[in-house]
Amino acid sequence: MKIAIMGAMREEIDPILAALGEYTSEEHAGNVFYSAQYAGHELVIAYSKIGKVFSAITASVMIERFGAQALLFSGVAGGIGKELKIGDLIMASALCQHDVDITAFGHPYGFIPEGSVMIETDSDLRSLAAEIAVDMGVELYEGIIATGDQFVASSERKAWIEKTFNADALEMEGASVACVCHNFSIPFFVLRAISDTADGEAGIDFDAFLQSSAQVSAKFILEMVKRIGD
Ligand code: ADE
Repeated sequence: MKIAIMGAMREEIDPILAALGEYTSEEHAGNVFYSAQYAGHELVIAYSKIGKVFSAITASVMIERFGAQALLFSGVAGGIGKELKIGDLIMASALCQHDVDITAFGHPYGFIPEGSVMIETDSDLRSLAAEIAVDMGVELYEGIIATGDQFVASSERKAWIEKTFNADALEMEGASVACVCHNFSIPFFVLRAISDTADGEAGIDFDAFLQSSAQVSAKFILEMVKRIGD
């Protein structure tokens, strides 16, 4: 199976490339796409750059040009739920865009006509992840991840996102990748390790924990690749 692994930042895919050892690379549409064989699968790996637009381009290229048949996103997120601590893993049950606002026309926050507020991730990939978490002895949270083109560093904004979308974590790419995969009918999975708690300290925590949390997420994603298709 051809599997896409994407992150938003170099730090999010570096641990994956390091584990692969050998890979080739190709530039296309402003990104570098790495190809490798791993655990009986063909992989295409890339980081998109931050935000919904760049991540949508990268996911589309992975599917249309590289023929990805499933997409796994690995990276970091700001935790919303009180139980989520830095380094904890959360997989998205569904994703939404917290910065979409056409409420002036009577629509709910996050809604775009002919779309939906939430896009669900693939249930088979979630079940596989839950099994792997048990086998690895790690705690894996599951919840709604809210995406927006904003680095959230405010308790007020965080509380609004929690209240409006019942979200457990927030980041800047998941829902756009979900939208691409949903529209191409490609199964997808979004995993994030918490790097900060999206409050006044978020910028400092993000810088301090980006690398270590990205590694936690990448390690788990590589286990998933090993077990896909078992
Ligand atoms: N990714 C990790 N932390 C984040 C935050 N606080 N806001 C947006 N995206 C993030």
